[in-house]
Amino acid sequence: MTSWRMHQYLLIITVWLGGIGTCMLFFQYNWSGCSFQTVPSDLAPVFRQSTTTSDTSPSTTPADSHPEKPILLKEKPILLVWVWPENFRFDLSDCQTYYNIDGCRIIDDRNLYNQADAVLIFHKAISWDLSNLPPSPRPPFQRWIWFHVESPTNTHRIPGLENLFNLTLSYRRDADISVRYPLTVSKTPIEGFQIPKKDKLLCWFVSNTNPSTGTGTRMKFYEEFKKHINIDIFGNMAGNGLKDEEYFPTMSSCKFYLSFENSIHKDYITEKFNGPVSVGTVPVVLGPPRENYEQFAPHNSFIHVNDFASPLELANYLLQLDKDDEAYSRYFEWRKHVTATRHLTTWNQEFVTYICHACEYIGVHKEYKEAHDIYKWYFS
Ligand SMILES: *[C@@H]1O[C@H](CO)[C@@H](O)[C@H](O)[C@H]1NC(C)=O
Repeated sequence: MTSWRMHQYLLIITVWLGGIGTCMLFFQYNWSGCSFQTVPSDLAPVFRQSTTTSDTSPSTTPADSHPEKPILLKEKPILLVWVWPENFRFDLSDCQTYYNIDGCRIIDDRNLYNQADAVLIFHKAISWDLSNLPPSPRPPFQRWIWFHVESPTNTHRIPGLENLFNLTLSYRRDADISVRYPLTVSKTPIEGFQIPKKDKLLCWFVSNTNPSTGTGTRMKFYEEFKKHINIDIFGNMAGNGLKDEEYFPTMSSCKFYLSFENSIHKDYITEKFNGPVSVGTVPVVLGPPRENYEQFAPHNSFIHVNDFASPLELANYLLQLDKDDEAYSRYFEWRKHVTATRHLTTWNQEFVTYICHACEYIGVHKEYKEAHDIYKWYFS
């Protein structure tokens, strides 16, 4: 606890794996008082501890096990998922199951478009001619949500979307719906965290090495770095992809993990970071500056490449930690006060979190909001 900022410290950590180059599932908590704090409602944690609501209304029934009954629909705001992101369709009751979110009714039946309070539109699924957008005119009460999880470098600027969306759903902290997660901060020291068994020094799961997607910086660093330290590489680049069920166990068996973002943008701290943190592996990060990471995670939970003058110096530091268990274990000190847990089991469930958070938001926020230019915001 020594070096923690104790007061009014909003600490947000991303602790969950998502799809390649995307996922953001943020933990959020406020250190002050070592308990959950009220946060601005647009950042309100998805995962609530106080879940004593005795809501046993029929609408808590998994929506996809019953055909939609219009009579139930108006009990809660309706969130229409216009297209399932990357065809990842989840059970409509998962928000209740995983996050205790039950503030809206998630549907994917386009026939109910006219009743939907909000429509969630996944940017990557929008066609260039906009022909697959929902119909106009939209009902006056309906809000459209722009759902996007890639960094600006990897975002297609489809023309015509500028002023259509009332709300944004993103990893960015300044999005209308910013997907974050509360870390559980404990008043009393947390016992029992054990550093998982390690049989590898440094690992990297990587598939995308195409410089055009903005991966140039990390490849350049890697080319130099690998001359000085052994790196176990998994993924398409090495021709040994991991199965879903091998993903976390393999990650956890490495002392360090290269959390190299494909492009460098504010708040763009992805599953490449969340994953190792959640499984008890120390991330070696290349991404936005250290200060940005520290808004999400304890300062002693990761190693930042910018803290080293060269790849060689970083390699030497990791090799030194490899021989010094005591020094290595200091990267887990923060776990005496903070629990990092993943609520989902496979890395490709990232979208559940986003959609659940959108559901929670529209359950709480009913206000009118004029569309704003998403690109001006996103690319600024
Ligand atoms: C959403 O934005 C559109 C475009 O600016 C606007 O016409 C509409 O009234 C807004 N709707 C709501 C409910 O905020």
